[in-house]
Amino acid sequence: MPLTPKHPSESLTVLTDLVLPSETNHINNLFGGELLARMDRAASISAQRHSRNISVTASVNHVAFTKAILLGSVVTIEAKVSRAFKSSMEVYIDVWVEDRISGVKTKANEAIYTFVAVDGTGKPVEVAQIIPETELEKERYEGALRRKQLSLVLAGKMKPGEATELKALFV
Ligand SMILES: CC(C)(COP(=O)(O)OP(=O)(O)OC[C@H]1O[C@@H](n2cnc3c(N)ncnc32)[C@H](O)[C@@H]1OP(=O)(O)O)[C@@H](O)C(=O)NCCC(=O)NCCS
Repeated sequence: MPLTPKHPSESLTVLTDLVLPSETNHINNLFGGELLARMDRAASISAQRHSRNISVTASVNHVAFTKAILLGSVVTIEAKVSRAFKSSMEVYIDVWVEDRISGVKTKANEAIYTFVAVDGTGKPVEVAQIIPETELEKERYEGALRRKQLSLVLAGKMKPGEATELKALFV
């Protein structure tokens, strides 16, 4: 029987934490690797909330370190499943930095990870489909197949000629 589709909001995961001295470089900015790890943790919980199964990181498809994040910053990471395929899920991550005085949150970075739901033996298992609701969720859902194909081509798991969504970009 097909699994009941879910909304992205059902997998929303929010992690808020400080930037401490041991997590920064020589000019007091958060290490990229530390941010990658925090995003991986949030995305992993999000994928598990969607699939209700163990979910492993299959690939990091895109990371944009747009703004440096300073020592002492309050960083909020929001992760949501943007689209699900058979066993894989695209998780979109937005990173916000909160101004200590005003409380206003500014977008600092974003990333896109792919997770695969697996059983106890590590074998991929089926996941529920996604029904996007907001305009942003619909936009991210639409682009997800293209990004999956690009990721598979780069990983050598799909021939470029089979990447229909990528080809459509250039026709
Ligand atoms: C991810 C993993 C389960 C995939 O296993 P696999 O044998 O390649 O399985 P499949 O070929 O059936 O692929 C399973 C799904 O993953 C997707 N996938 C695999 N590699 C991918 C990649 N690089 N980018 C995007 N999707 C990928 C496939 O397209 C497929 O998606 P679908 O079922 O939704 O169509 C396996 O490679 C694994 O366990 N990797 C290690 C995961 C891990 O330990 N992560 C932490 C690293 S420290």
